[in-house]
Amino acid sequence: MPTIADLPEPPGLPVVGHGPALARGGTMHRTLFRWRDRLGPTYRVRLGPITAVVSSAPEIVGAVLRERPQTFRRASYLSDVIDEIGGHGLFNAEGDDWRRLRRSAVPGLSVTSLRNAFGTMVRSTGRLRDHWAAAGPDRRVDVLDEMTRYTLEVIGSLTLGYDFDAVRRPHADGVHQRLPLIASTLVRRMYSPVPYWRWFRLPADRRTDAVVAEASALVADRYADAHRRMSAGEQPTCYLDTLVKHSLDHDEPLTAKDAAGSIVSMLVAGEDNTAAQVTWAMHHLANHPEAQAKVRAETAEVLGDRQLPDDAASLSRLGYVEAVVKETARVNPPSPYLIMEAVTGTTIPDGGDGLRVDPGTVLILLTDDGADPGPFRPEQWLSDPPAAPASHPFGGGPRLCPGRNLALIESMLLIAMTCHNFTIEPDTSGGPVGERVTLAVFPTNVGVRLRPIRG
Ligand code: HEM
Repeated sequence: MPTIADLPEPPGLPVVGHGPALARGGTMHRTLFRWRDRLGPTYRVRLGPITAVVSSAPEIVGAVLRERPQTFRRASYLSDVIDEIGGHGLFNAEGDDWRRLRRSAVPGLSVTSLRNAFGTMVRSTGRLRDHWAAAGPDRRVDVLDEMTRYTLEVIGSLTLGYDFDAVRRPHADGVHQRLPLIASTLVRRMYSPVPYWRWFRLPADRRTDAVVAEASALVADRYADAHRRMSAGEQPTCYLDTLVKHSLDHDEPLTAKDAAGSIVSMLVAGEDNTAAQVTWAMHHLANHPEAQAKVRAETAEVLGDRQLPDDAASLSRLGYVEAVVKETARVNPPSPYLIMEAVTGTTIPDGGDGLRVDPGTVLILLTDDGADPGPFRPEQWLSDPPAAPASHPFGGGPRLCPGRNLALIESMLLIAMTCHNFTIEPDTSGGPVGERVTLAVFPTNVGVRLRPIRG
């Protein structure tokens, strides 16, 4: 039976292997796709002392994602990096710890709970509209920056019941200004060839420690309040409440430190991917006036004189807007690969003889096919079944992204509000649009000008 030793390998350097080639240009996914085109769906790479399987074979990707957490897990190296920064939570928990966190998180992110949280998202979307309207049409909007503050504000309200008020205060001092440092330090450590931070702290690491301490103090404060309210029998209104209530109902210990880790984990998981997705959507709309016009025709019919969809029923009537979100995720999936690790020795079915892997084997799963996505055509999502090829931007199996409904609602609100109130024009004065791998595949240099079309 084939093992990792039988897989083909791209040309690499002695000792360091393929790490430098993958790090080059900040577009690791493109290099992985290129090698896949040359070597076939399953091959291996060397990352220093680690040899990893890379696969885009649907049987392998599906089996690994499905057989979690018992046979496969998130790569332990990445999980350790997240733990060390103080972000232990649903994203990197394993085994029974993961089962417990997943059980307590999913209800809070269900469609019903999100319907209750809709008002929070409408408030942030309205703030953004007013902020843009006040700034006037001549300002270049740095879309990723604005979307990052928006998604942070929303996820802060949903997880902590706390208003970062980040949308209206781009330059004001506050923890919202500093939180993105946690994600950037995570990325730096994830891709660092040596875990230097275990021996010494660089200035950026010390700043990150201070931000995590600041966020933890905020959570500890809210935790005490949540504990009091949940003990008094109140119903949960945010993720922190849900965690506290779950621990009280099931008599499971939950310290303020556990709660802080879970919240930091959710803030990081919930912010970057969504900000990347909406920024890509704005980029496509800016460059496709015909798609913009279709969104506008739809919002004119559904919203009339309202400035944005302020009730869930209106949002559900915006079929073309939803198609824009899905098409964006097809053309620019924010997470085109996932890094897993075998917990036990196992044979992965691959449609042939199977692939034998040992415990601890790292697997890089390509969840996107990486082929030229062709033109941006939201229309292909409107037929039933959709004419667009299937895509899996949210992973799969038992660890499928629990935030996908939230991300869809946020994205739809933003797209509908923007096209209904402004025309979007591309502004490339910051340089050409590109992409860069961080926690998600981020667009770089997406700038637009927004010309008001309503009072
Ligand atoms: C467009 C936006 C988003 C994309 C593309 C995205 C993508 C993903 C992907 C690919 C995974 C890994 C799934 C797997 O291992 O099979 C994931 C997991 C996760 N996502 Fe999202 N995500 C998005 C938005 C969100 C939001 C808004 C939240 C917060 C509420 C969130 C919270 C999480 C969490 C907690 C996990 C870990 C789940 C687990 O391991 O059980 N995500 N996401």
